[in-house]
Amino acid sequence: QEDLRATLLEINKLAASYFYYQLKNPQGELGYKYLRDRELSDDTIVRFGLGYSNKTSDDLYRFLKGKGYDDAILKQTGLVTIEERGTYDKFWNRVMFPIMDVNNRVIGFGGRVMGTGEPKYLNSPETKLFDKSRNLYGLNYARLSREKYILICEGYMDVIAMHQAGFTNAVASLGTAFTLQHAQLLKRYTDKVILTYDSDGAGIKAALRAIPILKEVGMSIRVLNMQPYKDPDDFIKNLGADAFQERIKEARNSFLYEIDVLKKDYKMDDPEQKTAFYNQVAKKLLEFPEALERENYLEAVSREFFINYEDLKRLVNRLGASL
Ligand code: UTP
Ligand code: MN
Ligand code: MN
Ligand code: MN
Ligand code: MN
Repeated sequence: QEDLRATLLEINKLAASYFYYQLKNPQGELGYKYLRDRELSDDTIVRFGLGYSNKTSDDLYRFLKGKGYDDAILKQTGLVTIEERGTYDKFWNRVMFPIMDVNNRVIGFGGRVMGTGEPKYLNSPETKLFDKSRNLYGLNYARLSREKYILICEGYMDVIAMHQAGFTNAVASLGTAFTLQHAQLLKRYTDKVILTYDSDGAGIKAALRAIPILKEVGMSIRVLNMQPYKDPDDFIKNLGADAFQERIKEARNSFLYEIDVLKKDYKMDDPEQKTAFYNQVAKKLLEFPEALERENYLEAVSREFFINYEDLKRLVNRLGASL
C-alpha cells in the first residue's frame, strides 16, 4: 500500500514536470501566453509549477509508459483513461495547476480551459493520494507564512494572485465545499482565518456554510468585503495589494457578517418583516452560551444595526426563557 502511494507520487511528479516543460515548447506557447495574460510572473509560474497539457490525445500516457510504468498503475493516477478502444490523457489543451500537499508532494491536478469552455476547471478524480476534503491548495506555502491568520478563498487563481501580491498565507478548498477535515487541518497552523470567497451568491453561500464548521474547531473568523470585485484575483488586479491589505484590516466579524446577510431577506420598512428580523437576530444571539460573550455581541449588534439595546436584550431573554 505504501509502495503504491510512493509510486503514484513519483508518477505525479513526473507528470507535473512534463506539463511544466510543455510551457516552453512551441505548442505550449498558448498556455504560457494565457498565464502571462492573467498577469502571472515567471517566478509565480515556477513557484506554483504551472504547466500545459497539449492537444495530443495520449502523449502523457506514452511519456509515462516510456518511463516504465504499466497500465495497471497508470490507471490509478487518474491522469489517463485506458479502455479497449484506446488510451487517452485526461487533460487536453489546458493550463495545469499541480496540487501539492503540505509536504510539497504532487497529489493531483487542476486544468483550466484557456478562454471559455466546459468545464472551466477539470480536476483529478479522487485517488489513493488525492482526497479533496483533506487538502487545501496553497497550504504548503501558507503554513510557512509569518502572519497569524490564514486567508481562505475559492480558487487556484485566487491563491496564486494573492501569493504573488505578497499574501502568502492564502489557501483554497478546491472545487469542493469546505469540510470539517479542512478546518482541522488548518487548526494545526492557526486559530484565525479570514474568508475571501467570491462576492457572488455562490460565494456568500459558501461562506455561510464554512463559518459554523470553522467555529466547531474554535477558529476566530472574519469575512473580507470584496465589493465591487468578484474574487481576490479580480480585486487585486484592479485595486492592488495595498487596497487588499486595507480590506483585510477591515474584515468583518463573522457573526456580524451573518447578520448582514440575514438582513437582506427582510424589508425594514415593513413592520412585520422588521419584527421577524429582530426575532431572528435574538435567536442567533442565543447561539452564545456564555453570558459575557452574548452580552458583547448584543451590544455590537444593537450598535451596528440600530436596534434599541434594551429592547433587543428583553427579546433575547424572553426567547431564551421559552427554549
Ligand atoms: P470560479 O468559477 O470562481 O473560478 O471557481 P475562478 O477560480 O474565479 O477561476 P478564473 O479566475 O475564472 O480562472 C472557483 C473554484 O472552483 C473550482 C476551481 O477550484 C475554481 O478555482 N471549479 C470551478 C472547478 O473545480 N470546476 C469548475 O468548472 C469551476
Ligand atoms: Mn496531451
Ligand atoms: Mn465562483
Ligand atoms: Mn477568478
Ligand atoms: Mn472566482
